[in-house]
Amino acid sequence: MKKGLKILGVSIVFIVLLIGIVIIFISANGIPSYEVEKIDFKVNNSPEAIARGEKLALMLCASCHLNHQTNKLTGQKMMDAPPEFGEIYSQNITHDKTYGIGDWTDGELVYLLRTGIKRDGQYSPPYMAKLPHMADEDMNAIIAFLRSDHPMVKADPTPDIPPKPSLLTKILCRVAFKPLPLPTETIPLPNEDDTMELGKYLAHNLDCFSCHSADFKTSDFLNPELSEGYFGGGNKPLDLQGRVMLTSNLTPDKETGIGNWTKEDFVNALKYGQKKGEKALTYPMLPYPQLTDHEAGAIFEYLQTIPPIKNKVERSIY
Ligand code: HEC
Ligand code: HEC
Repeated sequence: MKKGLKILGVSIVFIVLLIGIVIIFISANGIPSYEVEKIDFKVNNSPEAIARGEKLALMLCASCHLNHQTNKLTGQKMMDAPPEFGEIYSQNITHDKTYGIGDWTDGELVYLLRTGIKRDGQYSPPYMAKLPHMADEDMNAIIAFLRSDHPMVKADPTPDIPPKPSLLTKILCRVAFKPLPLPTETIPLPNEDDTMELGKYLAHNLDCFSCHSADFKTSDFLNPELSEGYFGGGNKPLDLQGRVMLTSNLTPDKETGIGNWTKEDFVNALKYGQKKGEKALTYPMLPYPQLTDHEAGAIFEYLQTIPPIKNKVERSIY
């Protein structure tokens, strides 16, 4: 009996020590690095590509990278990042050669946006967009915009503030968040006339699913449909004052989701933040006026076909 207790005691001490060592290791070594594959990619910056890229970047990059002091994509503190992830700062992605991306190659940009691996090999933690399913043409358009002479991306020497990821982020980057594989085949644009295909493409590539599912920690960027509580809402991004803003259930459940909404209700909410008889939608649900009614409607049509989830989410109103 006594011997058994002693063995148990020793084992517990041993396990605690081991966990301590692992934590010290992870805390000191930070976010892991990976090998960077050089990819050969030269942007095609036709005026059409730049215009399409501007629209995509306003919806996909500006919310995090636009700094309201400089009015350019010089980066800022991410006020809506859950504090458990640490202090997250988006970076300067203007043409500046020192702080911006002026000396990144087109291939390095594509590699980061596809896989999450920066050109120095470091994995960029959860708060940076990852676009494994974006069509090649849209990827090209985003890079074309970043290289264009649009005022938002003109060289600006605002220094970067390095993010300070928390221990939790560092641990998650070793066990849960992994770089995504580079697509092996070309990814075509969705067929504009196929509402379902277009709606799904936008719902996944505009990142609606990651905010509107259960939790950022269980968002599955490679297989969005496998994210926990896919579009069932309840995720907890913060507003600019650091208060939790619960995300809405967008599944077709009639009581707790949007099963009873009309397409018009949805398009007004999505493009203009309007809700009939209620306070307008607020940050971090930014309006998407860049979408055409056809595109916004396609997202609605697609969402009406996904599995309903019963999950009542009260609106966070302050
Ligand atoms: C949800 C917020 C968020 C969104 C959306 C986002 N980014 Fe970022 N981005 C970040 C953060 C945070 C970092 C810093 C990551 C790090 O240093 O590990 C970053 C880093 C970068 C970097 C690396 C810059 C450097 O100097 O290291 C590039 C390039 C970049 N983002 C481009 C983009 C583009 C292009 C888009 C749109 C397609 C985009 N980002 C969308 C938050 C975001
Ligand atoms: C950064 C996180 C985030 C992203 C990205 C996001 N949403 Fe939201 N969304 C929210 C939050 C939070 C609310 C609730 C806002 C409120 O209560 O004022 C919301 C509310 C909504 C609503 C209103 C639903 C209701 O029941 O009132 C719709 C519709 C919606 N989002 C659709 C979308 C679509 C479509 C996309 C992608 C194009 C998207 N959202 C992207 C966070 C996000």
